[in-house]
Amino acid sequence: MNQGDDFPGERRRIAVTGGAGFIGSHTVVALYEAGYAPVIVDDLRNSSDEVLSKIEGLIGASIEFYSVDCGDISSLSQLFAAPIHGAIHFAADKSVGESVNEPEQYFANNLGSMARWIAALRHHGVQHLVFSSSCTVYGEPTLLPVDEKAPQQEATSPYGYTKQAGEQLLRYVHAASSADAASSADAASSADATSKPQQAMGIALLRYFNPIGAHPSAAIGELPIGTPANLVPFLTQAAAGLRDELVVFGNNYPTADGTCVRDYLHVCDLAEAHVAALAHLERTPGDIDIFNLGSGSGHSVLDVIRTFEAATGVAVPHRIGPRRAGDVVSVYAAADKAADILGWRTKRSLHVALADAWRWQQQL
Ligand code: UD1
Repeated sequence: MNQGDDFPGERRRIAVTGGAGFIGSHTVVALYEAGYAPVIVDDLRNSSDEVLSKIEGLIGASIEFYSVDCGDISSLSQLFAAPIHGAIHFAADKSVGESVNEPEQYFANNLGSMARWIAALRHHGVQHLVFSSSCTVYGEPTLLPVDEKAPQQEATSPYGYTKQAGEQLLRYVHAASSADAASSADAASSADATSKPQQAMGIALLRYFNPIGAHPSAAIGELPIGTPANLVPFLTQAAAGLRDELVVFGNNYPTADGTCVRDYLHVCDLAEAHVAALAHLERTPGDIDIFNLGSGSGHSVLDVIRTFEAATGVAVPHRIGPRRAGDVVSVYAAADKAADILGWRTKRSLHVALADAWRWQQQL
């Protein structure tokens, strides 16, 4: 169990916004397994309260849960009534296509609610924050694999813009919170001061590549509402006969087989990266840093189909269709920084991730 000065004899509370979502739910389980007390803040706009009971079944304990938008601070007084050791901010809308049609919604949720939530964390002196960013900030990289120093490209969708702006907001917040900490240290060192100096908020910006798969128990996984936009949920639905066929978006790209290349990683590996990022912030209080989270390997769409068929023995009905607007050709991570500093790298293969995604699809 992870015990600290502020929480003697107790698990440290970690507020997880979007904790009922795909990556959030797996991270809540990983946090609990690592000895923390995850607390979920999720208005369930894109998930379901069944996820809560599944998580509780997996960990064998009940979870503190607030069914509200993380920006609705007036409904969260109970959350802030007890100390919060850290926060992981997942809550966001995440459909690239939808964001093009509903930009106001993406700005309001991904930036407006986020800003109110972060201000509340700062107000309550929360010292560790992990932010859910995306490799989308790199756009079409000029060098592969792409490392954290690669220049960002202008966002091609409101969704991508909100990830860039969310990172930038947190850089400003880090600077402001460091300035607050410096002035409180000055005050504490003056003769009449009795208060403990304030600590700057430490922040980890995590740039995810393509998370796929599901918990091996098949109790939790990805629950797309309506027609899935992402490859793996569409593929598993096509394999299950729920869709006529998977359309491969283009096979005339400049890649080995003509289809786009991405870095797919198992959601349980990604969940463990959040625990590693939190541990890193505990070791280096007040720090801010960026980490790519990917496997380091690129796979084409046809590779994914073939690997799925080999892992499950189930054929994927598919055909080649036109390109999808806005797709980058090829992007995969240089993941060495996360390995060197967080001590994290992916452990589960594409084969395992697709087998787990299929087990999840079958039980749905
Ligand atoms: C993008 C973002 C990612 C973001 C995600 C949110 C990039 C590089 N990645 O992922 O950061 O979190 O959106 O949704 O910007 N495909 C098909 N047929 C389908 C569906 C997908 O061929 O029916 C192909 C796509 O063309 C792509 C690959 O599968 O080459 C993966 O697509 P998808 O799962 O949608 O993820 P990205 O677009 O890579």
